[in-house]
Amino acid sequence: MIHQACIACGEKYGADEILYSCRRCGDLLEVKYDYDVMEEKLKKSDWQSLPLSVWRYKDFMPIKVSSKIVSLNEGGTGLHSCQRLANLLGVKQLYVKNEGENPTGSFKDRGMTVGVTKAVELNMETVICASTGNTSASLAAYAAKAGLQCIVLIPSGKIAYGKLAQAMVYGAKIVQIRGNFDQALKMVLELSEKHREIYLLNSINPYRLEGQRSLAYEICDQLNREAPDRVILPVGNAGNISAMWKGFTEFHKLGLINKLPKMTGIQAEGAAPIAQAIKKGSNEIVPIDQPETIATAIRIGAPVSWKKAIRAIGESKGTAETVTDEEILEAQKMLARSEGLFVEPASASSIAGLKKLFESGKIDEDEVVVCVTTGHGLKDPDIIMKISEKPFEVDAEMVSIEKLLGLTLPIPATMVSG
Ligand code: F0G
Repeated sequence: MIHQACIACGEKYGADEILYSCRRCGDLLEVKYDYDVMEEKLKKSDWQSLPLSVWRYKDFMPIKVSSKIVSLNEGGTGLHSCQRLANLLGVKQLYVKNEGENPTGSFKDRGMTVGVTKAVELNMETVICASTGNTSASLAAYAAKAGLQCIVLIPSGKIAYGKLAQAMVYGAKIVQIRGNFDQALKMVLELSEKHREIYLLNSINPYRLEGQRSLAYEICDQLNREAPDRVILPVGNAGNISAMWKGFTEFHKLGLINKLPKMTGIQAEGAAPIAQAIKKGSNEIVPIDQPETIATAIRIGAPVSWKKAIRAIGESKGTAETVTDEEILEAQKMLARSEGLFVEPASASSIAGLKKLFESGKIDEDEVVVCVTTGHGLKDPDIIMKISEKPFEVDAEMVSIEKLLGLTLPIPATMVSG
């Protein structure tokens, strides 16, 4: 039987109970399955012949009625073999799982297709989230598709324009708070506890994270049922690293892969409570009051899923690292120019992290590495306009363009023939 359970005290709750933390001890919840039942279901299912997508893994998902699924065709993103970038960095084999290819341009769609479907199953009419941008864009889209009201709380002036535009066009009620993401999250949590008709879809809701496990499943399937040696991903509120680890361990438990990857989380230097805890060898984080980074998606000082993330890193023998804003921007450009992949700054932190860990000898050159790039570059064009060389401007005359491009005058035809 599918149910919810507390990650600390193990207290069990029904699958349809609406709660966001353990009533007994206050800790995080997770969705639990009977894997023998799941295995039987998988044996009878044609899942392996379905195209790559979140719903190829329907038998792994805590959803009861297929007809209620709210989908925009999420998942099935490219696992790009990045040899040119690998050569630049000095590693042998590098893949980039490019989550910007999802319907609203980020990995959040994997969680929202499941989370909003759960909201529909529970007959909720209003959904809410706090967001640094991508979660709000994604929730607004899936709420629109499902015909639900959507409320989003965002830190005023601190989310990339593309993401704000998305939430606006999908018709969410947008509340900008004069505060940061951590404060916004506290407020939506309080609101949804107090007004039970509002369903919270931040990653503290364990159902949302269930959809994000599909990121791990897809990587294994794209590597022909093999796990990579290491997965490197940006960490903000820490839901994704926890969800991916759960996904890998489940594939392992079900005998679909025979090893597990080292989970490696990257945080921006000014917003790195988890990476700092890992570096100190501590199992507790010290929240950061005023997190700061140009990678606004991961500008988070008190990650709600920190405990699950530290567990994932520990169990997988992975690690965590911090990168500076400069390193993030350099990595963003490097990935775009060597591989044609344009990702937002938070996403580029996975590449920056790989570079740093490899250069300091913490990653072996033989490791098969998958870097997850979590959101599309077009969500935050402002940063590129600010830091890039401006385009050239000339009169609309051939001679000016040739001069600018340094093209020599062509040899006259009479001289060539004569
Ligand atoms: N990358 C991007 C592009 C993100 O938008 C986020 C989180 C992360 C990485 C970190 O993922 O929180 O699961 O550790 N964005 C959230 C939001 C907080 O509101 O869009 P995480």
